[in-house]
Amino acid sequence: MEILREVSLKTYNTFGVDAVAEQFVHIEKEEDLVQLFQAGRFEQNSLLFLGGGSNMLFVGDYAGLVVRMAIKGIQHRWRGDLIEVQAAGGEVWHDLVTYCVDKGFGGIENLSLIPGTVGAAPVQNIGAYGVELQDVFYNCRAFELETGTFKTFYKEDCRFGYRDSIFKGELKGKYIITEINLLLSTQSKPNTTYGAINAELAARGIVQPTIKDVSTVVSAIRQGKLPDPSTIGNAGSFFKNPVVSEDTFRRLVSDFVDIVYYRFGNNQYKLAAGWLIEQCGWKGKVMGNVGTWKNQALVLVNHGKATGLEIYELSERIIESVKNRFGIRLEREVNVIGF
Ligand code: EPU
Repeated sequence: MEILREVSLKTYNTFGVDAVAEQFVHIEKEEDLVQLFQAGRFEQNSLLFLGGGSNMLFVGDYAGLVVRMAIKGIQHRWRGDLIEVQAAGGEVWHDLVTYCVDKGFGGIENLSLIPGTVGAAPVQNIGAYGVELQDVFYNCRAFELETGTFKTFYKEDCRFGYRDSIFKGELKGKYIITEINLLLSTQSKPNTTYGAINAELAARGIVQPTIKDVSTVVSAIRQGKLPDPSTIGNAGSFFKNPVVSEDTFRRLVSDFVDIVYYRFGNNQYKLAAGWLIEQCGWKGKVMGNVGTWKNQALVLVNHGKATGLEIYELSERIIESVKNRFGIRLEREVNVIGF
């Protein structure tokens, strides 16, 4: 394990913005973390753990140590009627989905093609098409930066919420996830509750979809809607879908009859941020190096040479116009690094 200096982060973030890390290290096994701890490397203030860099926007160079989690390995074993799948934090999330789908292990096929790594998945409780990680999550193993020891977090410990967990809140910056364990099933019924999946299955004439069919269809929907980060830099949804109270919802719906929403728990509503942004005229707009995606206004894109700051400034303008028009303040889902 070698600590490198002045490393470009361009290939380590899916926005493809160029920022330089003062120091950079790849972690390929858990012992590497212990070694860094013993060398006092985690005592410094500027420390950034990086998975796939798919949910990060670098607005400037990083004056500190970037630790790239690259521990690999996937295995499974039977646990009663279920299969426990263990995956190391540095695995690419979609590679794990493929491993499971190919073996007929159901539960994460709806999460096909979500960018990022396995270790980052619990942090924001990744979700798509009616499924969230928490639905199949058993536990994860995490390294505590303060003590240099490993701890296991079970599902209840993680306090999962919509794009949220304890690792984003109370324990932010305290642990780094090195492994996750999921409980999957060969008997699970595919979840096709999300309208877009049903429509796509019907279009293909599939009546009794297999896990593989669902994965294929979800991949096709995503590819149709979202830009491929290997050609157009982006970080998926840039903002969260705002959750509003019944009162706010009633006010909005009387002014904007077409508003797109989902019921969210008791007396709350989740609004489609993509719709709000589109209504403000941003969808598909290209402004120099930056813009929003033509098929999904919630996705901000780098058209080639954008700096992180340019993307950030666009996001500020979008927040302002949505606030002015709807009185709703959008929150970023993407982490902004470097201010
Ligand atoms: N819509 C518009 N205009 C747009 C985009 C969306 O009007 O430009 C409306 C449409 O009515 C559409 C609805 O918003 O049907 C919802 O859009 P979509 O199905 O694309 O889902 P989303 O709410 O925008 C969320 C997640 C995605 C996830 C999809 C599918 C968030 C912030 N985003 O997007 O996750 O893939 O659902 O389940 O929750 C991500 O987190 O990076 C991500 C891509």
